[in-house]
Amino acid sequence: RAFLAQLQPEERDRLFTALLTNAARKFKKLKNEVSNLYELSEGYGRGEYPYKNRYPASLYEKELYNLQVELLKLQEWVKKTGSRIVVVFEGRDTAGKGGTIRRFTENLNPRGARIVALSKPTEAEARQWYFQRYAAQLPNPGEICFFDRSWYNRGVVEPVMGFCTPEQTKLFLSEVAGFERSLVNSGIILVKFWLSISREEQLRRFRDRQTNPLKRWKLSPVDIASIDKWDDYSKAMQAMFLASDTPFAPWTVIRNEDKRRGRLNAIRMLLRLVDYEGRNLEHVGSVDPLIVGRSEMLVS
Ligand code: ADP
Ligand code: AMP
Ligand code: MLT
Repeated sequence: RAFLAQLQPEERDRLFTALLTNAARKFKKLKNEVSNLYELSEGYGRGEYPYKNRYPASLYEKELYNLQVELLKLQEWVKKTGSRIVVVFEGRDTAGKGGTIRRFTENLNPRGARIVALSKPTEAEARQWYFQRYAAQLPNPGEICFFDRSWYNRGVVEPVMGFCTPEQTKLFLSEVAGFERSLVNSGIILVKFWLSISREEQLRRFRDRQTNPLKRWKLSPVDIASIDKWDDYSKAMQAMFLASDTPFAPWTVIRNEDKRRGRLNAIRMLLRLVDYEGRNLEHVGSVDPLIVGRSEMLVS
């Protein structure tokens, strides 16, 4: 008490936050240890996520290995047939886009597998046709391109953060389906993933970025500004799905609360969608309908 009384109010606040965070972490760990691995849960986060525990590491490693072998066959097929594949990864900050993409690409031949992660537009780019710098990155025959964020910036991040005008977003939303129609008509295989996390999980990951020296670089000003913008994001997402969830380029929602389940299911989904030579459906497996769904899966 005497010690607390000496502290400034904000120092006291910080101390309490630290203690609470630590307690919450210990509690969660304990809870996970005692609860059943596969039991469905009604109480995860806000009650939205269907599993109580992370997917077991041993199963994850084994399945990931088999899936990566299949991805190599897919890449072989893409090269042989001169196909072009675009896989778009979108999601709120900390959704796990970068980590998921890494699991797709880590064993692929870098010749023919390209990650596109554009930084904010230069002044010249800002005055181009909006889709131009993305169009410049589209795959050549034999290539798979993984977009870590994409033209969808204008649908969600940019309006929420005030990087573009409402008119620019409106124009984007009216054009995006046509743009993608054109890609698909040209023969591109277009797959769009929306990685989804709960608000609690996002806060947890932000905190992790703050304290983990290996993840600190990921904590951007945009992240910090977006902490209290959850609802603005939700609204922008709704308009974005309405405009762009089309029969020729549908969105696939991946619940990435548990990154292991999320990654395995995203890879499975891609392998299910393309009928490449030598596909081993036993190794590909089927996607988990509790993890993979359409945009209706997103409740908030
Ligand atoms: P990420 O979450 O992809 O690691 P950030 O959180 O820093 O990166 O930014 C989110 C997105 O917003 C990125 O695609 C970035 O290029 C974009 N962005 C940041 N600043 C601007 C800006 N001034 N104008 C347009 N886009 C921006
Ligand atoms: P990254 O490679 O940065 O995408 O993160 C991988 C690491 O995130 C894992 O090794 C875990 O320690 C950690 N992680 C944090 N939250 C989760 C979660 N809900 N499910 C799985 N892994 C998680
Ligand atoms: C990630 O790669 O973990 C995030 O989705 C990137 C981000 O914070 O925007």
